[in-house]
Amino acid sequence: MPNQATKFLLEEGRMPAHWYNIAADLPVPVPPMLHPGTLQPVGPDDLAPLFPAELIRQEMSTTREIPIPEPVREVFKLWRPSPLVRARRLEQALQTPARIYFKYEGVSPAGSHKPNTAIPQAWFNQQEGVRRLVTETGAGQWGSSLSFAGALFGLEVTVYQVRVSYEQKPYRRALMETYGARCVASPSPETEYGRSVLAQHPEHPGSLGIAISEAVEVAASHTDTKYALGSVLNHVLLHQTIIGQEAMLQMEMADDDPDVIVGCTGGGSNFAGMAFPYIGQQLRGGRRRRVVAVEPAACPSLTRGKYAYDFGDTGKMTPLAKMHTLGAAFTPPGFHAGGLRYHGMAPLVSHLQQLGLIEATAFQQNKCFEAGVLLARTEGIVPAPEANHAVAGAVAEALRCKREGRSEVILFNLCGHGHFDMSAYSNYAAGTLVDQHYDESELAMALSGLPSVPATNASRRQGQGVAP
Ligand SMILES: Cc1ncc(COP(=O)(O)O)c(C=O)c1O
Repeated sequence: MPNQATKFLLEEGRMPAHWYNIAADLPVPVPPMLHPGTLQPVGPDDLAPLFPAELIRQEMSTTREIPIPEPVREVFKLWRPSPLVRARRLEQALQTPARIYFKYEGVSPAGSHKPNTAIPQAWFNQQEGVRRLVTETGAGQWGSSLSFAGALFGLEVTVYQVRVSYEQKPYRRALMETYGARCVASPSPETEYGRSVLAQHPEHPGSLGIAISEAVEVAASHTDTKYALGSVLNHVLLHQTIIGQEAMLQMEMADDDPDVIVGCTGGGSNFAGMAFPYIGQQLRGGRRRRVVAVEPAACPSLTRGKYAYDFGDTGKMTPLAKMHTLGAAFTPPGFHAGGLRYHGMAPLVSHLQQLGLIEATAFQQNKCFEAGVLLARTEGIVPAPEANHAVAGAVAEALRCKREGRSEVILFNLCGHGHFDMSAYSNYAAGTLVDQHYDESELAMALSGLPSVPATNASRRQGQGVAP
């Protein structure tokens, strides 16, 4: 019999002391990243211009539990442990026999799950004497999270924000500046790569792939500057596992156990953060649950992309990662969930899909806003446009339970609030929000430009030659 409470709060002292590293439990290791020049597996030295040594160790580690440093946990106490909520009013509105729970990450200072990795990334950089961090951002959630983290640890932060989001969401920029960061619309005239894009398309709306190239170029050419990424990489997904570990403890408090876990996927980090601790339990002999990734139909890397080696950025400066990709040259349409406008998917999430451990589905934005508005009118929270995809996924599962007469337990990650995204809600209310479709010929062209990689180069084990 599930606990009848609505909200499940953990005491500060029960906040997880370790991150969970799924690489320790994988039946088949994830294919390694490759050097863009030699096409050989990258080693720590290749990544050193971009990242501090500790984050590189974490990126390549196969150790199951990695301790969260005490100063990082101290900062987390500003908002963690985050609440787990039983969405009773949503259940009633849907008239579903399912029990729906959500983990709410919008309680963080920046309003999403992104500070879960921004804080440790800033901490490890500061510990190794880095002066400045440079990054990209879509909707601005990641940029504002890194700006917040930089302010706490005395690091300068420069953010390249995708131009369409920079223009759609001016208050996100104001938030970054309030935290002390500098925010630049991308493509920008500040970098060689940005200038090359602008020369061809002066009105280019930008993309995460372009903004990453700009940030990587700046980091690689300044010795006091490192690059920080808000998604995709193993160490970023690792940091987010605090979400799922807390959720497990809270589901125990609720005397319930999820049958279906749902998250939205841009680069895959909040989804992985919620799902990996549960999938890890399964890989170690525990029960099998359905795990559903929800992505935008206008940028469907998991459902329509190719599983292949590709660059993480449009300028082809990053290492190659084996992932579901729409092609690094693909520019997604300018829909509102800016954080989901990325051509690739995290190698770990892609790998799990290849292993049949997760499912993926894609929704158009109006369906997602419809679900987000329903959540606002039942549970009171206005989700970020990205998070609306997870809400829509949970609603679809709840309606399936209704049709099938099943009282399953659905757990979804409500990864952020939409308080800076209200213009999108205004468009939705006015009926002017358009479901956008990507250009099939552009997708075909972007996929035809994927780099060709000999199969043997991809066979070395992740973590080989690197102390865990
Ligand atoms: C609120 C929110 N959710 C989701 C995402 C997508 O990223 P990820 O898939 O890494 O969680 C973003 C990215 O910026 C975001 O801001």
